[in-house]
Amino acid sequence: MLRAPSPALLESLRSLLGPRGFTRDAEVLAPWLSDWRSRYHGRSAALLSPASTAEVQAIVARCSAERVALVPQGGNTSMVGGATPDPDGGALLLSLRRMNSVRSVSPEDNVAVAEAGVILSDLHDAAAAAGRRFPLSLGAKGSATVGGLVSTNAGGTQVLRFGPMRSLVLGLEAVLPDGSLFEGLSALRKDNRGYDLKQLLIGAEGTLGIVTAASLKLVAAPGSRSVAWVGLGSPAAALALLRRLEARLGEAVESFELVPEDALALVLAGIPGTRAPLAGAHRWHVLVESVAPEGARDSAEALQEALAAALEEGLAEDALVAANEAQASALWRLRESIAEAERLQGPSVKHDVSVPVSAMPAFIEEARAAVEERFEGARVVAFGHLGDGNVHFNVQPPAGMAAETWLAGQAEAVTRLVHDRVGEAGGSISAEHGIGQMKLGELARTADPARLAALRAIKNALDPAGIMNPGKLIPSL
Ligand code: FAD
Ligand code: MLT
Ligand code: ZN
Repeated sequence: MLRAPSPALLESLRSLLGPRGFTRDAEVLAPWLSDWRSRYHGRSAALLSPASTAEVQAIVARCSAERVALVPQGGNTSMVGGATPDPDGGALLLSLRRMNSVRSVSPEDNVAVAEAGVILSDLHDAAAAAGRRFPLSLGAKGSATVGGLVSTNAGGTQVLRFGPMRSLVLGLEAVLPDGSLFEGLSALRKDNRGYDLKQLLIGAEGTLGIVTAASLKLVAAPGSRSVAWVGLGSPAAALALLRRLEARLGEAVESFELVPEDALALVLAGIPGTRAPLAGAHRWHVLVESVAPEGARDSAEALQEALAAALEEGLAEDALVAANEAQASALWRLRESIAEAERLQGPSVKHDVSVPVSAMPAFIEEARAAVEERFEGARVVAFGHLGDGNVHFNVQPPAGMAAETWLAGQAEAVTRLVHDRVGEAGGSISAEHGIGQMKLGELARTADPARLAALRAIKNALDPAGIMNPGKLIPSL
């Protein structure tokens, strides 16, 4: 049974952490008590911001002894309410944001060791300064932290080539629920000592411990990179284009992002300074990024030629290759602003789903038709990581209808329909955002009993008192 923090515990944490590491100020706490989409709102008696692994250990040991829950938090960009505490206020919020140093970057080993609070774009900069690259990026790169990325097994826009966080983490340092330290930072490329605790912690959403630092895989910085925007007729054409580009360019293709016309329209309407990349209208678009190693032929020429061939073959309707870095960034901004443009538009029913890549075009078209037929006026915006078989299949309320009222009545049924289709296609109801609190019910409804039993058994073995991020990821019995 969890307990609320006692005055004595709060006092001991205050003196442990000092004024920079401990606050109960409601104004300071407020932005961290709701999620990015403002769908979840919680309370907490205090915000703890340790500056070192030793302080994290001391916090966890004291909370464990008193059975007080902790909600770890990084940049608070979770799409599933994973870092928002419960409204009962019994849990303490544990921010890792002060632990933000890149401890080392080794170009020889191709490894960076970064603390949990390092912001992704700062990690990109640190790797670039050493002539290397950390090959994972996403729209929230200016806020999302290493600890959050590890704990959600984040994906993003380069999974096609490099995989999600799970394939980029070489080692972890983490404080376990009893306050002990898992010292697994050594970046061995091979280590076969049985169960891999590091892999259990990746994607655990803070339910098994607090990640304090990670050893992360770096790759060579590219010699050149090129970004193109392509207009085409359907998701099937987009997938055919991807396979065509891969045949010509091989592993040079690093990103392949699907954008429907309605998502582009949302961005152009809502995000200042954005412009339509192509002259005409197209039902679907893709953003392609390809790279070339140092000394190789410029990536733009190769991409240009490959796209010209695709246009001739009728796979694409129009294409633009960015002429310079500014144009390339402007194209990426169109893609990366979709989530923000949707948020500005108002609440929607979000789904982050995966199916086998070859099944995705049919999934998008058929699930869209099914939603539109059953929920009159509902608008589907399906975009994202087509090359990974992962789209964000979001459903907006009918135009002119009070969004919250419609969602209160329909969201659950919409989600069931979408997730049932995902199940029929052999897919997953969470491709990259995790379960958090948003998908607990759907995980319980759709997961096979063996998976749920194993999740609960692992949780009970490592966190028997249940102090780590309660109410997230693990459906209660
Ligand atoms: P938080 O939101 O603070 O926390 C996320 C989860 O991790 C919570 O369960 C929290 O308790 C836990 N946690 C955080 N830090 C620690 C720690 N040190 N130890 C243990 N547990 C911890 N996600 C993708 O995968 N791909 C995308 O393309 C993508 N694009 C996004 C675009 C936008 C605009 C936004 C707002 C979000 C996007 N996300 C995406 C979701 C989000 O950015 C990721 O889930 C990210 O990994 C969260 O990092 P964070 O530091 O903000 O973590
Ligand atoms: C993205 O790919 O842009 C994100 O995962 C955010 C979203 O789902 O809206
Ligand atoms: Zn995504």
